Amino acid sequence: MPDIYFLNGQFVSLENARVSINDRGFQFGDGIYEVIRTYHGRIFHLDEHLKRFEKSAREIDLPLPFSRPEMKKAIEEACLKSGYPMAKIYVQMTRGEAERSHAFPAGIKPTFIMTVLKLSPFSPALKASGIEMITTEDLRWGRCDIKSLNLLPNVLAQQKAKKAGVYEALMVRNGKVTEGSISNFFMVKNEAVATPPLSAFILPGVTRDLVLDIARSLKMKVIEEDIPAEEIYRADEVFLSGTTIEIAPVIKIDGKPISNGRPGAITQTLMKEFEAIALRE
Ligand code: PDD
Repeated sequence: MPDIYFLNGQFVSLENARVSINDRGFQFGDGIYEVIRTYHGRIFHLDEHLKRFEKSAREIDLPLPFSRPEMKKAIEEACLKSGYPMAKIYVQMTRGEAERSHAFPAGIKPTFIMTVLKLSPFSPALKASGIEMITTEDLRWGRCDIKSLNLLPNVLAQQKAKKAGVYEALMVRNGKVTEGSISNFFMVKNEAVATPPLSAFILPGVTRDLVLDIARSLKMKVIEEDIPAEEIYRADEVFLSGTTIEIAPVIKIDGKPISNGRPGAITQTLMKEFEAIALRE
């Protein structure tokens, strides 16, 4: 089962997967990406990811050279070639190669890359015990709804979490929770599932959407409202959502236990339903 590398329409070896030093993705972070996964060889929520990819492209004025069916075909072919039952698919499009100048030249050809690698599932032990996280200032720009390559603040936040020996860093902007460095934030209070509303300050997570659908289908109360940072420590339950972490219970924030310090009942119900859907689809 090989790792797959795809560059501008061709399957290539890692050694031959080379991009110019003049690529604007490299020089400016001028591009967009998606992280998608498979369950037992089936690509999970591909349309939702491609829809967001297309939206990100529109928002940065990057005309996509491929249609949705063409993208799907390439991704499906890459997954089949890899043969991994659980794969992590990374797709990235940059504005392409041009001599360095901030404004982009007309007629430039985008650079498209895709990798399909083996996905190690999120640790079942951590899923069962719950994870810890810290809070940190949200240092990102004003369009976090675009899945852009400019991830330095996320990288620094994740590094801070690693240094603190915890799994994730939750970002706080103007006293309100936004999201994790690689995940969306949820909390449960008085049996209602609350999450920050969609805005320019969070990524519209594919998993976030699914969690909200599941919660609504189970007749849970759902609240999409700003969450003051100080309220999170008083939550009954906290969890995160994301393509790679799926739904992960959070049991401690900044060293303070959430409720009794164990994954909550509503979180576990959502996790079970999520797993059923992921394995069924
Ligand atoms: N990140 N928020 C941020 C900042 C993210 O980077 C991600 C995912 C999410 C969750 O979105 P989704 O449910 O669509 O995966 C939220 C991916 C996995 C990454 O950058 O590796």
